[in-house]
Amino acid sequence: MDRKQLIKEFLDFYKSKGHKEIQNASLIPANDPTVLFTTAGMHPIVPYLLGQPHPLGKRLTNVQRCIRTVDFENIGDTYHHTFFEMLGKWSVGDYFKKEAIGFTFEFYTKILKIPIERLGVTCFIGDKDSPKDNEAAETWGKLGISKDRIAFLPKEDNWWETPGPGPCGPDTEIFYWKLNNEPAPKKFDPKNKNWVEIGNDVLMQYEKDKSGNYKEAKQKNIDFGGGVERTITVLSGLEDNYLSSAFLPIIEEIEHLSSKTYKGNEKTMRIIADHIKASVFIIADGVSPSNTEQGYVLRRLIRRAIMNLRKLGFVGTGLINPIARKVFEIYDDYDILKRNQKKIYEELEKEENKFDETLEQGIKEVEKIIKNKPKEISGKQAFLLYQSYGFPLEITKELASEKKIIVNEKEFNKELEIHQELSRTATAGKFKSGLADNSEQTKKLHTATHLLLAALKRVLKTEISQKGSNITPERLRFDFNFPRKLTDAEIKEVEKIVNQKIVESIPIACETMSPEQAKKQGATGVFDDKYGDKVTVYSAGTFSKEICAGPHADNTSELGNFKIQKEESSSSGVRIIKAVLE
Ligand code: ALA
Repeated sequence: MDRKQLIKEFLDFYKSKGHKEIQNASLIPANDPTVLFTTAGMHPIVPYLLGQPHPLGKRLTNVQRCIRTVDFENIGDTYHHTFFEMLGKWSVGDYFKKEAIGFTFEFYTKILKIPIERLGVTCFIGDKDSPKDNEAAETWGKLGISKDRIAFLPKEDNWWETPGPGPCGPDTEIFYWKLNNEPAPKKFDPKNKNWVEIGNDVLMQYEKDKSGNYKEAKQKNIDFGGGVERTITVLSGLEDNYLSSAFLPIIEEIEHLSSKTYKGNEKTMRIIADHIKASVFIIADGVSPSNTEQGYVLRRLIRRAIMNLRKLGFVGTGLINPIARKVFEIYDDYDILKRNQKKIYEELEKEENKFDETLEQGIKEVEKIIKNKPKEISGKQAFLLYQSYGFPLEITKELASEKKIIVNEKEFNKELEIHQELSRTATAGKFKSGLADNSEQTKKLHTATHLLLAALKRVLKTEISQKGSNITPERLRFDFNFPRKLTDAEIKEVEKIVNQKIVESIPIACETMSPEQAKKQGATGVFDDKYGDKVTVYSAGTFSKEICAGPHADNTSELGNFKIQKEESSSSGVRIIKAVLE
């Protein structure tokens, strides 16, 4: 069975039962900070499940595109996917348990013509929050499901809720016996992997509050979800979702391009197909690869797809888009893909090129480490790879695990924390010595930076503080708070003052004192932060006095001629000056 055929049958059936089709919403939830992606068809309709009237009425249906990333590590088996489509039907304060189960049964047995002998169901066993669901079981029984085919399970299996507060409740799930050459056992055992869950009616009679307590909902709802991919797979008599029409053209393209067969390379090809498909859809909904939130998930998906392409022997770039093309073909009923096709190709290519630049080097580094057959890759090593080559931890882990080497993740996370703490401190202005080395030239530029800060305070007549500093032997860079561009006259004036102080040949003094003393003397520093008992204070006469770790020139006369080369915006309210000593 083809996905389009299943979707049509489903929507037609529920429309015939008075349901109105609602829009397939974005993968990026509009007003829900608790989830990164739309993980189920119910996400976009939560306000209506909580009581707001829906303009289309109380019976709704659709097929929703979804992304689930919790299963990231499981991608590679026959039935986990990052992207999938979910068949959905909702009663929003209209019918409840009996009718919902009746519709589900009718759809599977009459419309899809599944023989009842191949079906089993689960119901909620009951706990302190909600009683055993005898009503659901009796309803299934009346429809013809035998007692042996009804299993009662606890919350882990038969309850549905989202991580945050919201509508929730017990559910009842319908399973299909997937083997063709072996009849279904008389007794239904949900642990037997040959039973595949194909549909789930959540009987929403509770609302979960912020503290995780359940209270009886004013409005009772039904939230049905059914996975498109797994349904078409089992109904086509297949045992691997990646061989269904939702994936096969992608797999065949990978086989064709790599001249390798799916057989023997299943896991690798599944990861590639899954990750590229998910990436195409995520980009279509407006996300670009980045280092935060959805953008980071996207970046990981693309990069992991590339790593797996390499396992098939591919090198270089230009590999993703020929495979992505198949995603457009399978999902040619999605306008959002058509409209964004150009942008999707561009983003994929851009990320591919970016990753390629750093990948070669990163892999060499990992191979160097692995060559000595260590028991583990230390957190420090993994972090260095991450920082220097943009090498995701997951990929280091993957390369290491092929050689049965573990990566010290705890230490990696510690390193990451230290790094984040350092960059926070640096932006707070605590680390003054962003020096590339201790050469004579950087010492001079460092002293020039102090003179520059003092001059800025005079010229701009406002409280200027350092937001960052970076000095190489060639130039200084100084970041400071100021709301607008400096005028040419102001820049000239700052230069003039610094050069005047250079000409005055002021000796640079270094003293050690308590932070309190330094503050009393008017030294520049960040006094709300913890300094040690003693600090070093560098001063150029009375003109400049700063708490600083050094090193500095001995006398301003060593500096030469000070020249500002650039003054520009860094981020909102922060300016950057780049200057040289000629
Ligand atoms: N929201 C339910 C699920 O995702 C239907 O299974």
